[in-house]
Amino acid sequence: MIPIDSAAAEIFAAANNTIALTGAGISVASGIPHFRGCGGIWENYDPEEYGTIQAFQRNPAKVWIALKIFCDIMDKARPNPAHFALASLEKLGYLRTIITQNIDGLHQEAGSNNVIEFHGNNRWLVCQKCGKRYPNTEVVIDLLPPLCVCGGVLKPDVVLFGEIIPREALYSSYLEANNCSVVIVIGTSAAVEPAASIPRIASRAGAKIIEINPEEEMPSDIHLSGFAEEVLPILLEKINRLSIQQDAL
Ligand code: APR
Repeated sequence: MIPIDSAAAEIFAAANNTIALTGAGISVASGIPHFRGCGGIWENYDPEEYGTIQAFQRNPAKVWIALKIFCDIMDKARPNPAHFALASLEKLGYLRTIITQNIDGLHQEAGSNNVIEFHGNNRWLVCQKCGKRYPNTEVVIDLLPPLCVCGGVLKPDVVLFGEIIPREALYSSYLEANNCSVVIVIGTSAAVEPAASIPRIASRAGAKIIEINPEEEMPSDIHLSGFAEEVLPILLEKINRLSIQQDAL
C-alpha cells in the first residue's frame, strides 16, 4: 500500500468547498498517453505541426491523420479507479467541481456531474464554416478531413494551441478557483496557460494545494507522489474512515 499522508485526508474531510484540476496523467491508466516527457504524444507529433489551429487551417487532412489516431484511442478508453474515486468524492459531498484539461469525457463516464471542460470535448465535431456540431458517433471518419453537409471542414470540438478557451469554462473556472479552500491538482504538468494559473489563483485567495503526481510539478502544501489510479482510491478510503470516526464521536 502507498503511504498516503493522513494530513491530505484530514484537509479534504474538513473542507466543504474543494475543487480538482485534472490533466492527462489521470487518464494514462485508461490507455490515453500524456503529452509531455518520455512517451508523450508531443514526442511523436510536433505540436507546431499537429497541435495548433494554424496547422489545422493550413492542412486539415494532415492534422486529421493524428487526430484520427487520438479519436480511436479515446473511443476505446474507459474510466479508471482515479476517475471513479473522484466521482465518489463528489457524491459524498467532498468535491464540488472538477476542472479538467482532458477532452476524453471520462470523468462524466465515471459518474462525475459537475465537470468543467477547459479544453473542450473530443466526442463532438464542429464545422469550421457553419458551426454545426455533430456527435462523433454520427460521423464516419473515413476520408480525411471529414466534412459537414455544407462542405466545411469538421474539427473535434477541442481547444488547439492558438485558440481561445471557451468563455463559460474560463469564467466559471476562475470563479471556482477564487471560491474554494482546497484544490487537488492531479496528473498535470501545469505547463499550459491559462489552466496552469488555476491553482495559483486559488492559492492567492487562501486555498490549500494538494498535488497528486509522481513528479512535483508545482508548489503545493502537500505532494502525494504516485499514480492517480493508486493514490486516489486510498485517499477516498482514508476520507471515508475519518468521516465514520467523526460521526461516531
Ligand atoms: N497519475 C498521475 N500523474 C501522472 C500519471 C499518473 N498515472 N502519469 C503521468 N502523470 C503526470 C506526469 O508526471 C505529468 O506531470 O501527468 C502529467 C502530464 O502532463 P502533460 O502531458 O503535460 O499533460 P497536461 O498537463 O494535461 O497538458 C496540458 O497541454 O498539450 C496540451 O491541451 C493539451 O490539455 C493538454 C495541456
